[in-house]
Amino acid sequence: MMEEIKVEKVDKRKARPADGELSFGRTFTDHMFTMEYDENKGWHDPKVVPYQPLELDPAAACCHYGQTTFEGLKAYRSNNGALLFRPEKNAERFNNTNRRMCIPEMDPEFFVQAIKEAVRVDQDWIPAKEGTSLYIRPFILANEVYLGLKPSSHYKFVIIMSPVAAYYPQGIKPTRIYVETEYVRAVRGGTGSAKTGGNYAGSLKAQSSAADKGYDEVLWLDGVEREYVEEVGAMNVFFKIDGKIVTPELGGSVLPGITRDSVITMLEDWDYDVEVRKISIEDIAQAYKDGRLEEAFGTGTAAIISPIGELNYNGLKMEINDFETGEVASKLYKTLTGIQTGKVDDPYNWTE
Ligand code: COI
Repeated sequence: MMEEIKVEKVDKRKARPADGELSFGRTFTDHMFTMEYDENKGWHDPKVVPYQPLELDPAAACCHYGQTTFEGLKAYRSNNGALLFRPEKNAERFNNTNRRMCIPEMDPEFFVQAIKEAVRVDQDWIPAKEGTSLYIRPFILANEVYLGLKPSSHYKFVIIMSPVAAYYPQGIKPTRIYVETEYVRAVRGGTGSAKTGGNYAGSLKAQSSAADKGYDEVLWLDGVEREYVEEVGAMNVFFKIDGKIVTPELGGSVLPGITRDSVITMLEDWDYDVEVRKISIEDIAQAYKDGRLEEAFGTGTAAIISPIGELNYNGLKMEINDFETGEVASKLYKTLTGIQTGKVDDPYNWTE
């Protein structure tokens, strides 16, 4: 049995930004959830407290060796109160990530309960305008005070929440993507399938050199042959070729996205032929040259569906679907956000 979650509320609530003024991840709610871990007590002292800076010893392990993990999910305002989208999938993935990073697992039911309690306390912060939501960021950092390299014996679990609009400032408009042939994001046996800070830190160099060339994100190729497509930016990627939908298999180096999983389920229900397999960049380029590359889009919690308007592969500029959002990407975006906000029927019981 987990301990009861204590709640200490702020004396004075902050001014909330108007829904129309929101961007992504810049403003935070009044409260946060925290819980501690040590080897004797396990996970303990769960509480919702006023949002505040963390106190961290400069020798805490996370500051040096990156033993950190995180999750991302959203709460939506619906006519029936706050709705969460498949939070137990986040709980499951968080534990998989934590195992990979030598961080103690957490009771998945308690993880979901903690999120619900944090959202309940700050429910007024869930924005209402179409395209907005409350982004929830649970994370763990290793805080044993020790510079030797080993799994920490102390951890802190925190949940912060941020009212957000679209992830990309331009909304769900098609993006320009640079196919990265020098840097890699992950290799099999590495940490690519875990949600850990280092993966994202390691991706920044490629992302910033793509930005210097005028591109929004990079398309990552596999780390060994530099041949197979893995992810786009911090998202999973899908292509529509000859009417079929193709997405890379997970294979240990690709993040198992919850939006990815939901999209595969919906597309199969809509009778699309969905192929989850290795897909080479050369095959994509050939499909483009033959006029068979019909759509490409990324999927992720933050951006939901992000259409790709151009792929630049070694100077071959592939414009996709006349730089318009494709039919499949639009239908997925509408249906998924409809389910998430309780506006369309949820045949999968994905919301709670
Ligand atoms: C998400 O799509 O939720 C992610 O984790 C990506 C992050 C960079 C915002």
